[in-house]
Amino acid sequence: MYIFSTIKETSDYLSRKKGQGLRIGFVPTMGALHEGHLSLMRRAKEENDLLAVSIFVNPIQFNNAQDLEKYPRDLAKDRALLEQVGCDVLFAPDADEMYPEPETTVYDFGPLEQVMEGASRKGHFNGVAVVVYKLFEIIEPDRAYFGEKDFQQLAIIKELVRKYKLPVEIVPCPIVREKDGLAMSSRNERLMENERKIAPKISQILKEAKTKTEELNPAELKIWVTEQFEKEPQFRLDYFEIADDTYLQTVENWNKNTGTMGFVAVFLGNVRLIDNIRFI
Ligand code: PAJ
Repeated sequence: MYIFSTIKETSDYLSRKKGQGLRIGFVPTMGALHEGHLSLMRRAKEENDLLAVSIFVNPIQFNNAQDLEKYPRDLAKDRALLEQVGCDVLFAPDADEMYPEPETTVYDFGPLEQVMEGASRKGHFNGVAVVVYKLFEIIEPDRAYFGEKDFQQLAIIKELVRKYKLPVEIVPCPIVREKDGLAMSSRNERLMENERKIAPKISQILKEAKTKTEELNPAELKIWVTEQFEKEPQFRLDYFEIADDTYLQTVENWNKNTGTMGFVAVFLGNVRLIDNIRFI
C-alpha cells in the first residue's frame, strides 16, 4: 500500500494508473475504521482495479469543536486494517494540505440540506461537499462508495455529482450493524457502559415501527416512535422523521411508489447517534 500525504503525489500516482486503463474505486473516510468502513472497501476492491482510501478528519464539517477534538484517531490501527482489505493507495493529508487558505465555497442543496442533519448541524453538509469535491478532483475515482448509515450525506453527494456533472459513479452500501443491531459508528466507542447497553434499542424501535405501517399513518407512527424513545430516560430524541428517499422531505401518506424511510437522531449522554430504516 502506498501512503501519501500530499495532493501532488496522490494525483500523480493515480492519474498514471488511470492512464494505464485501471479503474479506481474510492472510499473517503475520517479514519477510526470499523467493519462498516471495511465493507465499503471490500466492495470497492472487488468492483475496481485499484482501491484508494482517504483518511482525513475534515475540520470544516464539525459544527461542534468538542466533537472534532474528541474524534478518535489511530492511524497505526487503520493502516493495519487497510492492508487487510488490500488497499492500494491511502491518502492521509493534514488540514494545511487540504485547506491552505480559509475555505469560502458555499454550495446550495436546497430543501435537501434544510432537514434533519442539515437542520441540526448547520454548515455540516457544506463542509462535507467541499471536502468530497476536492477529494474527487485529487483521486479522480471511477466509482466512490458511501454508506447508507449516513443516508442524507449520500443524497447530498448524489446531488453534488448530478449538479456539477462529476464523472464518478456513486455506489450506496447497506448499513453494517453490531450483532445486537446497533449501527456501527466510531462514536459508539464514546458510549458509557450503561449507554452502550441501551443503544441497540434505537434499531429495535425502528424495526418495530416498520411492523406498524399497516395500522398507523406516518404522523401517528411518528408519535408512536417518539413515545418509545421517551420511555427510556437516557435517550434524548433530536428528531424522528418519515421522509422520501430522494429529497428527504416529510411524507404524509404511505405510497407504494414513493421510497419512504424513517430517520432518527438521538442523544445518549452527550453522544449523538443516527440510524435509519426503509419502510417502503
Ligand atoms: P466516516 O464517518 O468515516 O464514514 C466514511 C464512510 O463510511 C461513509 O460513507 C459512511 O456512511 C460509511 N459508514 C460509516 N459507518 C457505517 C456503517 N455502520 N455501515 C455502512 N457504512 C458506514 O462520512 C464520513 O466519514 C465523512 O463525512 C466523509 C464522507 C469522509 C467526508 O469527510
